Order: sequence, then structure tokens, then C-alpha cells
Amino acid sequence: MKLVKLIANLGYGSRKEVAAMFREGRITDASGEVLYADDQVEHADLRLDDAPLDPAAGLLILLNKPIGFTCSTKDKGRVIYDLLPPRFRLRNPALSPVGRLDRDTSGLLLLTDDGALLHRITSPKSHLPKCYLAELASDLRGDEASAFASGTLLLESETTALAPATLEAVTSRHARLVLVEGRYHQVRRMFAAVGNHVLSLERVSIGGLEIGDLAPGQWRVLDTADRHSLFEGG
Ligand code: URA
Repeated sequence: MKLVKLIANLGYGSRKEVAAMFREGRITDASGEVLYADDQVEHADLRLDDAPLDPAAGLLILLNKPIGFTCSTKDKGRVIYDLLPPRFRLRNPALSPVGRLDRDTSGLLLLTDDGALLHRITSPKSHLPKCYLAELASDLRGDEASAFASGTLLLESETTALAPATLEAVTSRHARLVLVEGRYHQVRRMFAAVGNHVLSLERVSIGGLEIGDLAPGQWRVLDTADRHSLFEGG
């Protein structure tokens, strides 16, 4: 791919703007040598104003989504893209959330520009376990774990039973719940189905990938080892 297109696709500017960056000598290789638009240089060797470029297409990001942000580009309120560099919104291919978390749910959210990877993670066939910590308004009754594990639980207005899910009581009002599917507001609706109400909800892992000590609002680029733990560690 031509360098102007490559850099424009990363969201640094329009092709016209990137062409101007070349003319201004702002694009160099790692040794500081000024590059021309027709040069052939590896992505890793490119610099803009002496800084390495963002990762190339095929990007996978882990964001610790805070409460109050929606997984949308269009929403009027605060959106997850506000937490990332502004140019990330302009990337081509686009960087999209892998599944969604509600505005009032926090925790592990993946974003990628790799459609095949997105499908591999979200496909019901992948059965990737997603682990949530829920704080509840009422004490657990004691029968929730068997109801959730039954494979027969129906959510309101649905006709297909939920796949078995694993609930572990942490305290009388805190539970760890592992799902292998991702229906709309699933955790909140599951607890509503057993007469409870979720006060707060955090996703702490997908597969073997954990949120760890990443602070709310922080994000990091996932590497090959992370991708392995995503699919293998669950
Ligand atoms: N279940 C919910 O209810 N909300 C989420 O954001 C994710 C799972």
C-alpha cells in the first residue's frame, strides 16, 4: 500500500493532509531520514514527527470501560471513542467494539478492526466464557445457580432458553456469573428472572483474558500472547 494511503487509513489526516506532511518533511524513517510518498518502508520503521505510528490494521484493543459511556459512535452522550485518541475514530478499516456493554456496565471491552476476529470472538459457536461480577439489590435466595445452569431458563419475551451459565455466590449480594452467549442486557435480565435486581455490573474476563489492573478508562493494545490467552485460557 502507498504510504499516503497507509497513514491516512490510520486516521492521521486526509490523503491531502498526509501528502502535505510528506512535503513538510514530517514523515521519516526510524533513523530520522525524511521519506517521500513513493518510498517503500515497513510500518514499524515509519515515524511522524519522530513518533512511531499507531499499529497497522489488524488491531485488537482492551479497554476498561467506565460506567456512563456507550459503545456507539453516534450517541449524544459520552462514548467509548472519547477514551481513545481521536484519530482512532477515523481509521479505515473501522475500529468497532466486539459485542457491547451497557452504558451502566463497566469492565473489559475489546475493540478491533479485524472482522474475522470479531466474528470469531462473538460467534455463538465460539462459546467463549465471559465473566461478570454483579452487585445485587437483594440477598441471593440460593436457587439461582441451579436455575442459571439448567439450560431451560427463559428471559422475558424470548422463546429460546438460555445456554447453561455458571453462578458463584461471592457474598449474599455479590455474584460471579460466567456466560457463553451474549444476549441483550443478559445478566440484568437473568437476575430479574429470579426476582433480583443488578445494582452494578462489571465484566472481568473474556476467555482467559482478564481486565487485570488496568484502571477504568485506560486501554492497551493486545499482543499475540494476549490473543492466545483470549482463546486458550478460558
Ligand atoms: N449483561 C448485561 O446485562 N449488560 C451488559 O452490559 C453485559 C451483559
